[in-house]
Amino acid sequence: MHLITSSVGRKLLMAVTGMMLVGFITVHLLGNLSIFAGSEAINIYAEKLHSLGPIVWIFRLIMLGLFAVHIALGIQLTMENSSASPEAYAIKARLKTTFAAESMIYTGLILLAFLLYHLLHFTVQVVHTDAVATLQPLVNGRLNVFAMVGNSFNSAFVSIAYVVAMCALFLHLSHGLQSFIQTLGLNNGPSQDKVSAIGKLVAIFFGLAYIAIPLAFLFHIVKI
Ligand code: HEM
Repeated sequence: MHLITSSVGRKLLMAVTGMMLVGFITVHLLGNLSIFAGSEAINIYAEKLHSLGPIVWIFRLIMLGLFAVHIALGIQLTMENSSASPEAYAIKARLKTTFAAESMIYTGLILLAFLLYHLLHFTVQVVHTDAVATLQPLVNGRLNVFAMVGNSFNSAFVSIAYVVAMCALFLHLSHGLQSFIQTLGLNNGPSQDKVSAIGKLVAIFFGLAYIAIPLAFLFHIVKI
């Protein structure tokens, strides 16, 4: 089986790259949740990451590759589905579907737009420059990432933009996780509903945990 030319191969690549991206958002979430442990925790975490030097760039290149393959195959899959024969469409229309499944391409594109904005915001630091780290005083000789994140989310506009993007993340994961299990052939027989429920619960967890970060600053539950 050729991974790119066969549709099964492409689905498999989609599933594997998707799962690796879930691995990234899990680690990223754990790092970000350290804001609830106070300013030092996330500042030390960010300093450790930056001190990895070339490893950070190798990691960034791998991430870029994963995103590129996942997005390109997602767009191709959507175009193939929409140009499918009327018979295939009739069969598809009879199958049980969900809002999350139907909106995969849209939630995916919202996430892509979010990612570009997010990188310009916290990594390149060229948007919301009044709040970004380069303008924050160093704390114990460290870049004050805590203040950068907190000052940004004190703005209702920025917080709402992140909350909307995290809702898209929830919807995307809620179908993506089930789809991953289905592609691997683990989702059959009586276990099907259980697997769907677990996928949805995991997606809810990610959505709520990520949304908690901007809201905690916006409502001053975590203070800068
Ligand atoms: C409330 C939600 C989020 C917060 C507070 C947050 C916070 C941050 C911060 C502070 C950085 C810069 C780290 C540094 O250079 O010190 C960063 C980078 C990044 N974030 Fe997020 N993030 C959030 C959600 C997400 C999501 C959902 C994704 C993926 C879909 C994501 C993907 C990335 C990527 C790819 C980077 C660049 C990593 C690098 O520099 O190599 N983030 N984020």
